[in-house]
Amino acid sequence: MIGQRPPLLNAGLTPARPILKWAGGKTQLLPILRYAMPRRFRRYVEPFVGAGALLFDLALPGSLASDSNADLIQFYTVVRDRPGELLAATSQLPISEDDYYRIRALDPNSLSPVERAARFLYLNKTCYNGLRGVPTPTNEVEYCANTKP
Ligand SMILES: C[S@@+](CC[C@H](N)C(=O)[O-])C[C@H]1O[C@@H](n2cnc3c(N)ncnc32)[C@H](O)[C@@H]1O
Repeated sequence: MIGQRPPLLNAGLTPARPILKWAGGKTQLLPILRYAMPRRFRRYVEPFVGAGALLFDLALPGSLASDSNADLIQFYTVVRDRPGELLAATSQLPISEDDYYRIRALDPNSLSPVERAARFLYLNKTCYNGLRGVPTPTNEVEYCANTKP
């Protein structure tokens, strides 16, 4: 039956929702994905993790996530290892259009790992629709005044 999670062998942690807004996220497809999951498998491997909708929903210990976006992986590493520092650093960032463009203009390579992750989260939550939350010279996205960080 669609919408009902099949029993999984290793389910253990509490399901979570994605932290990030991400183009192509699979949150809306979760009922179908849950239905299509095999009942038993050894390890969940997510090679294109993005916002990790299915990864966090499954919450299976020992899961493996990867992505070609190095900034995204750096962000998740800080979430895993230094969540308190990340929360503190992010909550200090002011939300306004001017601040958005000032923070977007910062060179991530000049920042500490926690500062870099905080900038990543800030831009993801305040940019237009969370799309392309990783600004590069060819991939910039505008501030969204109506954002709900
Ligand atoms: C649509 S998102 C994934 C959504 C996610 N699986 C979910 O459940 O919400 C696609 C991700 O694939 C990554 N990606 C694209 N091409 C890739 C590649 N060749 N190798 C690894 N990751 C890749 C992108 O960086 C992006 O974060």
